[in-house]
Amino acid sequence: MRVIKQYSLGGPEVLEVVEAQRPAPEGGQVLVRVHATGINPADGKVRSGYVRFFGEPPLVLGHEFSGVVDEVGAGVTGFRPGDEVFGWTTPPDGSHADYVLVPETSIAAKPTTLDHVHAGALGIAGLTAYQTLVNIARVRPGQRVLVHAAAGGVGHFAVKIAKARGAYVIGTARAAKHPFLRELGADELIDYTTADFTALRDVDVVIDTISNDYGPRSLRTLGRGGILIDVVGVGVDRTAVREQAEAGGVRFVEYFLAPSPADLAGFADLIDRAGVRPSVEETLPLAEAAKAHELIESGRVRGKIVLVP
Ligand SMILES: NC(=O)c1ccc[n+]([C@@H]2O[C@H](COP(=O)([O-])OP(=O)(O)OC[C@H]3O[C@@H](n4cnc5c(N)ncnc54)[C@H](OP(=O)(O)O)[C@@H]3O)[C@@H](O)[C@H]2O)c1
Repeated sequence: MRVIKQYSLGGPEVLEVVEAQRPAPEGGQVLVRVHATGINPADGKVRSGYVRFFGEPPLVLGHEFSGVVDEVGAGVTGFRPGDEVFGWTTPPDGSHADYVLVPETSIAAKPTTLDHVHAGALGIAGLTAYQTLVNIARVRPGQRVLVHAAAGGVGHFAVKIAKARGAYVIGTARAAKHPFLRELGADELIDYTTADFTALRDVDVVIDTISNDYGPRSLRTLGRGGILIDVVGVGVDRTAVREQAEAGGVRFVEYFLAPSPADLAGFADLIDRAGVRPSVEETLPLAEAAKAHELIESGRVRGKIVLVP
């Protein structure tokens, strides 16, 4: 099988198409034939060495995928060969490959309303939006939700999910992306290049996909009992933001993705029931992974970029 592998840390040029042995599933594991695999900012952060959660090279990147179960290991009861599934994984044996080996707890039945290209874009950005809005913030109808980088991977899912739960959704994005976000259902849009979002008041939930000064600035927009969720996870020290939040009677949560099988199934159900659908800006062949990395690192992607083996 082909994998996109790196033997050193660096720019997109370190990514190589390499022939590898197809792995065999052990107990509790499932081998999935990858039909589509999304790219996320995390892929660039790991490739460059900015984050080192997953060890040193050689690494195969790729955190999210959709495909068909090829083989199951002993004790797997929930899936059998031929099942269409989607899921998440981590390096060093990621999903930017023809096959990915995962525990059965990392996959769920593919939403019936999505093809593989769209289902391959759910496992990181989509689940992040789902877990933050549904599990942590428990967004209710009528609440005011501010989504930063609303046109990005996490952001565009957050807009759709918050709307599906009856919220009033405010997004930050460049003006050129406002028509896209209005189509997704956003109620109010702020071009962060010309307007200051801190003028907002009585926001119940902020999804911060930017971090740095966006955390403390976002706190100013929250009403009493509101919640700021930082999904960036790395970079600046957030101690001061936490203290500021506590002093102001609002909550601050630092989010790290760790989906349970119930979340995967719950998200798939929401997709099918509420028409939540990723927007895929570009689909590229697996062998063009380096180009996909360049696109995601531009910071300008609208929705998702997906690789197709
Ligand atoms: N902790 C976790 O487990 C976890 C999980 C998922 C994601 N993340 C992190 O969350 C962050 C966002 O991920 P993503 O996939 O959504 O990124 P992304 O898709 O690359 O975001 C791109 C979008 O960001 C917008 N943008 C850039 N700067 C902005 C600003 N100052 N204000 C408003 N919008 C801005 C761009 O739109 P414009 O052209 O309008 O600027 C673009 O549409 C990344 O750092 C990622 O690593 C963490």
